[in-house]
Amino acid sequence: MDTLRDLPVLPAGDYVLRRWELTDLAVVEEAAQDPYIPLVNTVPARYTRDAGIAFVERQWGRPASGLYPFAIARAVDGRAVGHAGLRALGPDRASVGYWVAPPGRRAGAAAAALRAITAWGHGELAVARLELHVEPWNTGSQRTAESCGYQREGLMRDWMRVGGELRDAFMYTALRTPR
Ligand SMILES: CC(C)(COP(=O)(O)OP(=O)(O)OC[C@H]1O[C@@H](n2cnc3c(N)ncnc32)[C@H](O)[C@@H]1OP(=O)(O)O)[C@@H](O)C(=O)NCCC(=O)NCCS
Repeated sequence: MDTLRDLPVLPAGDYVLRRWELTDLAVVEEAAQDPYIPLVNTVPARYTRDAGIAFVERQWGRPASGLYPFAIARAVDGRAVGHAGLRALGPDRASVGYWVAPPGRRAGAAAAALRAITAWGHGELAVARLELHVEPWNTGSQRTAESCGYQREGLMRDWMRVGGELRDAFMYTALRTPR
């Protein structure tokens, strides 16, 4: 997989994926209030303006290390509602992840973002295998994955740390060449 220096802007239906901006602090504050997002992302668990700014600034340096973090913003007014990211795992594999802050949920944001980042990963980045790791209780994320063509491969035991604790996760994948 090639490393890009800058993030592109990806159209995603009613949304657009673009780089994080300091004008996006409201959604970082909303995400910080969610019980789960700060456990699986670097969103601060206790929001302060400085912690929000640090979160946004951290995202800017990441493409150099093979991590591409996008804000999911509404196309109509540019308001960020969540996050979608792709992380290189090797020449042919990458993982994707996303969150939508509570006020923006159930409006199709996660599915639109996942569809766009998947097309970009398979297309411009030419990644053969995109992975998504979802905890068994997380029906919303499983439906999001399945609605974007991801297939469940199996249960990975003690796969990831969530809040300091090892948890199982379903491995979902989307192949560039489906079979
Ligand atoms: C899971 C999450 C990303 C869904 O975001 P969203 O923008 O509300 O999802 P969408 O509106 O795009 O919905 C996509 C699909 O999931 C379904 N869905 C979303 N939330 C759901 C829920 N809580 N329960 C059941 N189904 C749900 C929608 O109905 C839709 O399914 P459909 O295509 O069959 O109608 C969001 O709830 C979230 O950020 N949760 C916390 C962080 C997280 O779990 N991230 C993923 C880690 S793997």
